[in-house]
Amino acid sequence: MIDGFAVELRQVVKKFGQVTAVDKVDLQIRDGEFFSMLGPSGCGKTTSLRMIAGFEMPTSGQVFIGGEPQGYLPPYQRPVNTVFQHYALFPHMSVYQNIAFGMEMQKVDKNEIQQRVGETLEMVHLSGMDNRRPKQLSGGQQQRVALARALVNRPKVLLLDEPLGALDLKLRKAMQVELKILQDQVGITFIYVTHDQEEALAMSDRIAVMNQGKVHQLGTPEEIYEAPANRFVADFIGESNFVPGVMQKMGPPAEISVTGTEQPIAVEWLEDGINAGDAVVVSVRPEKIRIHPMGQAPTYPAMCRLSGQVEKVIYLGTDTRYLVRLNEESAVVVRLQNIISGGGHFNEGEKVDIRWDSAHARVFKE
Ligand SMILES: Nc1ncnc2c1ncn2[C@@H]1O[C@H](COP(=O)(O)OP(=O)(O)OP(=O)(O)O)[C@@H](O)[C@H]1O
Ligand SMILES: [Mg+2]
Repeated sequence: MIDGFAVELRQVVKKFGQVTAVDKVDLQIRDGEFFSMLGPSGCGKTTSLRMIAGFEMPTSGQVFIGGEPQGYLPPYQRPVNTVFQHYALFPHMSVYQNIAFGMEMQKVDKNEIQQRVGETLEMVHLSGMDNRRPKQLSGGQQQRVALARALVNRPKVLLLDEPLGALDLKLRKAMQVELKILQDQVGITFIYVTHDQEEALAMSDRIAVMNQGKVHQLGTPEEIYEAPANRFVADFIGESNFVPGVMQKMGPPAEISVTGTEQPIAVEWLEDGINAGDAVVVSVRPEKIRIHPMGQAPTYPAMCRLSGQVEKVIYLGTDTRYLVRLNEESAVVVRLQNIISGGGHFNEGEKVDIRWDSAHARVFKE
């Protein structure tokens, strides 16, 4: 591999008439990586994947696979295979025939076909089901046949477009684990498209978070969750509080006056381009916030403290969520793990102090 990347997109743009589906995207996907493209409906995930596969051609920019520019190469001349959300298995063919079909078209030797189909069936845990028809299989098993059909060609890169979308939640979770294990075993680069953030976090080595045709952040699951680059990413990945305020002092330590409270709070990380006097939001994850009866919060230097009143308590089994109202304009969600049954809880109407480590807050433009 010339440049060490399995797939690279350089300044790739795709326009459909007036719509810019993909807008100057740069991506470098490493060899053997489980890479996900994550974003809301219509953000350009499928279009990006289809340009890698060769089903769509970029309006401008270039796609490289294994360091080679792909230009206008058609899909069958690219070393990739695609698994689509609506995997169309041939209903009148057996599992074996479905998987062998492509190789039979290419006139691959019969013995080799037999061997490769056998190996691939084993890989996806479907050995012994060779003669079944798709309708005699469960949804998860059908999905594995679709996967086997792509894997049997031994592609360098496997493209998967919401491949688990048709499965129910439980099966989906089981298949996520299976896919991840399979990818480790075969060592093929996986490019995985999903709009399900939990799925992307659970499976990926790295994730590109997309919105409106652009990549907003590229990083490991931990990086994008713990250190979102902007408000969109903070909002899309997991749950975030957004407390409105005004940038008081650029620092260090930088200070923000939270709307409706007198106390300024210290912050460490600011999005680029914020100036004193700007309207901002302080973003903190619910599980990073501590809650105390009013007046009983310890005072550490790096801690931000605000006072409020518990407005709503929602018991969720593993955790309890508290909606704490700070003032008329803002409220925050605090999430506490239920380590002790029935202990250490707060009641609706109770006056409380909340606090968080200033290192856990991110400040974005309003
Ligand atoms: N063939 C096409 N002709 C015109 N517009 C298209 C075409 N394909 C996609 N688009 C538009 O391009 C944008 C990106 O579409 P794309 O299918 O890539 O989104 P996506 O991220 O895969 O969304 P989803 O999660 O819903 O599958 C959308 O606004 C879509 O309407
Ligand atoms: Mg799509």
